[in-house]
Amino acid sequence: MKASDQTFTATVDRITDLSPTVREFTLRPDGGVLPHAPGSHLGVEVPVGERRTVSRHYSLVGLPGDGVWRIAVKHLPGGRGGSRAMWRLEEGARLQVRAPASHFELDHRATEVLLLAAGIGVTPLVGMAQALAARAAARGDVRVRMVQVARSEAELVFADVLAQTLGDRLRTVVTGAGQTLDIEAEIAALGPQAQLYVCGPAALMARVRSAWAAAGRPAVQLRFETFGTSGDHAAQAFTVKLPRHGLTLDVPADSTLLDALERAGVEVLADCRRGECGLCAVDVLSVEAGTIDHRDVFFSAAQRAAGRQLCACVSRLSGSSACVVLDSSYRPEAGS
Ligand code: FES
Repeated sequence: MKASDQTFTATVDRITDLSPTVREFTLRPDGGVLPHAPGSHLGVEVPVGERRTVSRHYSLVGLPGDGVWRIAVKHLPGGRGGSRAMWRLEEGARLQVRAPASHFELDHRATEVLLLAAGIGVTPLVGMAQALAARAAARGDVRVRMVQVARSEAELVFADVLAQTLGDRLRTVVTGAGQTLDIEAEIAALGPQAQLYVCGPAALMARVRSAWAAAGRPAVQLRFETFGTSGDHAAQAFTVKLPRHGLTLDVPADSTLLDALERAGVEVLADCRRGECGLCAVDVLSVEAGTIDHRDVFFSAAQRAAGRQLCACVSRLSGSSACVVLDSSYRPEAGS
């Protein structure tokens, strides 16, 4: 069993509204917390009904230290239902959580780092900023600065903690106040060995990746995590047909395609569950109605436009009565 498959029961110790749309949950696991690296996330089984839960990943905020795990959840009315269910929780609720894991690791040998966060994407970068600032203060062998982007002043969550940690190495950009993020200029200001860590919506990631490549920077020096769940359209229910399995499934608005396939016993490989690794990609045979709302950051723009595959963990169909026909890796046994 992988360490990240280990499950715990945790109590929701405290709930704090950080902004009109972001709520912080302090979780106290029975038996104490496990340590986590900056950039780690927690798998949470979010109760969405009497006996039903959905799996969601939330970044751990800050460095470990006081016997609790902190996550922050943005309320997404058009999302898949996980955030709405989290917001219905009350202090004292009991939750199943999985051990911290990370797909977004900080390179502790980096000598210059820019952290770029947009919206709720700030959550994994708080711990990174704290770790890098502590290293800079202790050893002076890393330069770090951060740019935090939000729609409004009120949505600059954790900016107070970050300002305490980074001082004038933190810059905020409030887009609703007419301020703009100049990604090309931020990249141009970096030394050749600098690393860029980005977390934010998929559209921002696409811009950063293309600016990074256009500047001739090595791909390995750009590290990112995205919340690849915010598509072009609000989540809607749709139908999926799997001719190889003889199955037709309804995917509710509050479920991912991957969850629906797994519930029906259809095996699909998956790892990140946030549209980054591409492991859950399934072949699209046809779209009978509606359009594919690609919500991943794995496929290129050309691959998305071709529409031959989609990432089942985040992407879905939009349009009324939308229906997609998928192939899967399943092949019936000969003679069965
Ligand atoms: S599981 Fe990684 S992209 Fe879907």
